[in-house]
Amino acid sequence: MLQPLLFCYQALPCTALEPQVKRSIARPELSRCRKHELQLANSRECTEEAMELTKDSSITMNDGNRIPVLGFGTYSPEGVPKSQAKEGVKVAIEVGYRHIDGAFVYQNEVEVGEAIREKIADGTVKREEIFYTGKLWSTFLSPELVRTGLDKSLKALQLDYLDLFIIHWPFSFKPGDNSLPMDENRKVIYHSVDLRATWEVMEACKDAGLVKSIGVSNFNRRQLELILNKPGLKYKPVCNQVECHVYLNQRKMQEFCKSKNIVLVGYSVLGSSREKDWVDQTSPVLLDDPVLLKIGQKYKKSSAQVAMRYILQQGVVALAKSFTPERIRQNIQLFDFHLAPEDMEAIDALNKDMRYVHMKSISDHPEFPFNDEY
Ligand SMILES: NC(=O)c1ccc[n+]([C@@H]2O[C@H](COP(=O)([O-])OP(=O)(O)OC[C@H]3O[C@@H](n4cnc5c(N)ncnc54)[C@H](OP(=O)(O)O)[C@@H]3O)[C@@H](O)[C@H]2O)c1
Repeated sequence: MLQPLLFCYQALPCTALEPQVKRSIARPELSRCRKHELQLANSRECTEEAMELTKDSSITMNDGNRIPVLGFGTYSPEGVPKSQAKEGVKVAIEVGYRHIDGAFVYQNEVEVGEAIREKIADGTVKREEIFYTGKLWSTFLSPELVRTGLDKSLKALQLDYLDLFIIHWPFSFKPGDNSLPMDENRKVIYHSVDLRATWEVMEACKDAGLVKSIGVSNFNRRQLELILNKPGLKYKPVCNQVECHVYLNQRKMQEFCKSKNIVLVGYSVLGSSREKDWVDQTSPVLLDDPVLLKIGQKYKKSSAQVAMRYILQQGVVALAKSFTPERIRQNIQLFDFHLAPEDMEAIDALNKDMRYVHMKSISDHPEFPFNDEY
């Protein structure tokens, strides 16, 4: 089972193939920002509301469902035993995370599903309190394969439905059992798919009750507009999940998504797991940034907590992964402080539009998302 994932990373040296890949009910919703009624609170005008964030805060998406603002990432770096994903998810649920971010291509949905079901069985949570995101991998983008891709995740997880199902990447690979099909020159074999046709089957999955909400990931503006402008569009994407952190603050994508009532979900907010095979080892270590460390001293918080709070205060959903129990606990201690405007501005100044997950080896794919400005 692990082999295709290992293959996937080893085969793409120095590239970034994506590692593979409420407000409380009593509080006003984040989307009801005073100055922007019914718009997302991902602008600085809404800092006041952002200060009221709690660990149970969520954002109302454009289909009426709610997404918790803090999510637990489950991508397992190469060589990490899958049991760690299971234990990590169990600890996360015990300490209060209710949003779990997974994917077929992470090859650990069996363990993640076991953890969720065990925490339901022992009475810690009810299924309806958990928000699970699954992702459609690139070998399943052909319309006739979307349902197959979803069924594989549901079967592995042993869940009846996903809360959110997103297209993992806009580029399609040759369908088949290998998640990363390659030719004799070890070049990934591409496939051509009309993303609008893929989206129509995503809509059908929602209508069938197999998923509550549908969205996309790693789409650029053009690709989002392709879906939004599709004749006969039934459901808009509820979210775009993209890399988002202090060195890549996604300001333009944030503004665009806000204008379309699409939630931005940020991944690698801590600077990724920095795997040698796909992250440039000379790239700056985000959690060592002196500005984050200094601001952390002011609030008696770690650089990780400052980096995460910065994302949340913009109305962006923050995903963070850790399989270390102490860090899992630390990463949810984000709701007893707020960053002052001058600290938000100091962190804004760190932006350098720098990706950890750059996927350069497939930058010639017609649907490669990162050749556009955003
Ligand atoms: N849609 C996509 O294409 C995509 C791409 C990338 C990621 N994602 C999702 O986003 C999630 C998060 O992104 P990510 O996994 O790339 O990385 P991340 O959350 O930015 O960083 C994870 C790394 O940070 C370490 N860490 C966690 N908390 C820490 C703390 N308090 N202090 C110091 N180090 C800490 C973790 O180590 P330990 O685990 O050893 O504690 C791990 O090495 C993924 O797991 C996945 O669910 C989606």
